[in-house]
Amino acid sequence: MSERKSVATAPSKVILFGEHAVVYGRPAIAVPLHDRQATATVEEALPGEGITLVVADLGRCYPLAEAPADDPLALIVRSALDALALPFAPDLTLAIRSTIPIASGLGSGAAVSAAAVRALAAHFGRELTSQQVSELVYQTEVLHHGTPSGIDNTVVAFDQPVYFMKGQPPQCFRVGQPFHLLIGDTGIPSPTKVAVADVRRGWKADRPRYERVFEAIGQLADEARRAIEGGDIATLGSLMDRNQALLREIGVSSPELEQLILAAKGAGSLGAKLSGAGRGGNMIALVTQAMAEGVATDLFRVGAKDVITTCVG
Ligand code: PMV
Repeated sequence: MSERKSVATAPSKVILFGEHAVVYGRPAIAVPLHDRQATATVEEALPGEGITLVVADLGRCYPLAEAPADDPLALIVRSALDALALPFAPDLTLAIRSTIPIASGLGSGAAVSAAAVRALAAHFGRELTSQQVSELVYQTEVLHHGTPSGIDNTVVAFDQPVYFMKGQPPQCFRVGQPFHLLIGDTGIPSPTKVAVADVRRGWKADRPRYERVFEAIGQLADEARRAIEGGDIATLGSLMDRNQALLREIGVSSPELEQLILAAKGAGSLGAKLSGAGRGGNMIALVTQAMAEGVATDLFRVGAKDVITTCVG
C-alpha cells in the first residue's frame, strides 16, 4: 500500500420541517449535523488489485467487482468513478466509517455516499461541486428509499441549512441566532420506504385531506425559515409543535415518538416533533442551553436509546 491517503467526511442531517409533505412538492427545511458523521478513506492498492470496499462497522470487506448492482456503496463508487472519467482502471481501497445510526432519519446512507464521492474525487485531484455530489448521492437514495424527495442528499452534500423544494435548486440560508436541539432516538429502526409508501396509500385514498395537510406543513416550513433567519426561537418552537400535530394526522408518529415528545415538552422544551420518516427513528426538541441537560435526562428516563445535543448555526 502506498502512503497516499485521501480522507473526506460528510455530516448527518436532521429535517426540521416538512418531511413527507416535501415528497408532494412542498418546501422542507433540513440542517447538517456535525456531531455524527461518515468518513471515507481512499488508499492506493497494489497494481492489479482493483477496488476493495471496507465497511468496518458492518464487518464487511469485498471487491467492488463482485458487488451486486443494488449494493448502495458499490453503486456510489461506480457512479463516482464514471463521473470522474478516469483514463485508467484504478487500484484502491475505499474504507467507510460512520458514527451515524442506520435507518433512524439522520441520513446515514446519504452521508456515507457523499463521503465516498468526495474522498474519491480528492484522491484523483478532482473538484466536484456540491450539486454534482448531491446528484450522485441521489442515485443511492433511490436504492434506499424508492422515491426520495432529494432533501437528504442535498443537505448532506451542501453541508448547510437548506430550504428545499423537489425539482428546484436548493436555497441555502443563514441562521439568525444559533439554537440548541436535542435529538432523541426511539431506538426503533424506521425504513423510510415503508412510511413513505403508507403515506402514499393514505393520499391515494383521500387526496383532498392529505393535500390540505401537506399544504399546511409547507406553510409552516415557510414560516420556520423566516423564524430561523430572524432568530425568533420562541416562534420556531411553536411551529415545531404544529408540524408534529400535522404529522400525527397522517399517521407517521408512534407511541414511542409521542412519549419522547411529551417528555421533552414536560421538561420545558420550546417545541418538539419527529424528524424524518417517523414511526421510529428520531425526534427533535428545541431547548435553551440551560435546559438541555434536564430535558435530555427526561428523554432517557422515558426510554430514549440515545440523545444527541447539538447547536444549529
Ligand atoms: O427518514 P429520512 O431522514 O430519510 O427522511 C425521510 C423524509 C421524507 O420526507 C419522509 C422522505 C423524503 O424523501 O423526503
